[in-house]
Amino acid sequence: MAHAVIRRNEMFEATLNLGGTPVDLGEYATTGLLAVAVGPRGNGKTNAGLVAAEQLAEQGWISVLIDPEGELESLYGAAVADAEQLRKSLGARKQPIIVVSATNAEAFVPYGQAVLDVADRQRKPIFVFIDEGQMFSASKKKDIAAAADIINQLAERGRKRAVDMFITAHRYTGSLHRTIFANKNLTLVGCQEDPTAWSTLAPQFRASKIEFSDLNALAPGEFFCFSRAGVEKIRMPMASALARVAPKAKRVKRKLPTTFSQWNRAMREIPTARLEALNDPVVNLLGAVAGLSAQQMLSGARALQDELEARA
Ligand SMILES: Nc1ncnc2c1ncn2[C@@H]1O[C@H](COP(=O)(O)OP(=O)(O)OP(=O)(O)O)[C@@H](O)[C@H]1O
Ligand SMILES: [Mg+2]
Repeated sequence: MAHAVIRRNEMFEATLNLGGTPVDLGEYATTGLLAVAVGPRGNGKTNAGLVAAEQLAEQGWISVLIDPEGELESLYGAAVADAEQLRKSLGARKQPIIVVSATNAEAFVPYGQAVLDVADRQRKPIFVFIDEGQMFSASKKKDIAAAADIINQLAERGRKRAVDMFITAHRYTGSLHRTIFANKNLTLVGCQEDPTAWSTLAPQFRASKIEFSDLNALAPGEFFCFSRAGVEKIRMPMASALARVAPKAKRVKRKLPTTFSQWNRAMREIPTARLEALNDPVVNLLGAVAGLSAQQMLSGARALQDELEARA
């Protein structure tokens, strides 16, 4: 069957407000949107995908939310019963946000196939949000190969079928199939807590002069956003459905230094009289309050002693 060249007119009028400079989707008209959000647990990845899903659903897309953890039904209504119902619902385009419950890759396959089929037939904008993407997409895992393949097809051929996508993952490397990382065109990177992961990450960030400490300092809901327009630090708004039920994450100011030189500087700023006031009963009390182990108490006491000796 021959298809006319697809013109994604809806893209030229659509915008995403992710908390930074609005993302003009006109810039994605020829490629489609393939967004990836990476960050540790509780970092706000799910919320970020929901923000995009809600905003696109208001601008003419049908948003399909792949929900592996059963956390989205309470927000957006009961999941479709099966792949057939998803097909019907996508065909009718009456319900702007559709929840799909898929607790593993195998369960995802018929739903993914339904999205591909409908997109192939009707070519009207569909937004697929795949939460916990590492469960459905990875390069090496055999048991999820079928799901990964469908996601790759959505990513690679989606642009001609008006399918846009948003995938979340816990880690930057290895968690998703390389096709996804190779084709992504909007990337949200959240807090990075593992300094040893930095050596693999650094090349991606070097050009933008972003350091480990910048990534490490990101609070929940904060991301570095790499888009067609460039890179900027953003603070994601809350998805409306989530804002109704979830507390806004408390903005915790980091109190502890993250590098040795910061530790060193922090230590030097403490006056000697104050350090001397840390006698055994005081230290024991503070240690008990903080719930420190005997090991931590010992190394703390040693560090204190070293510092005082160095100052004497
Ligand atoms: N942009 C935001 N502003 C303020 N609070 C936020 C924001 N995003 C998320 N939060 C808070 O953080 C909580 C966790 O967010 P979310 O579930 O999106 O994280 P996640 O990265 O998907 O975590 P997980 O890996 O455990 O699924 C939310 O319930 C909400 O309270
Ligand atoms: Mg989540």
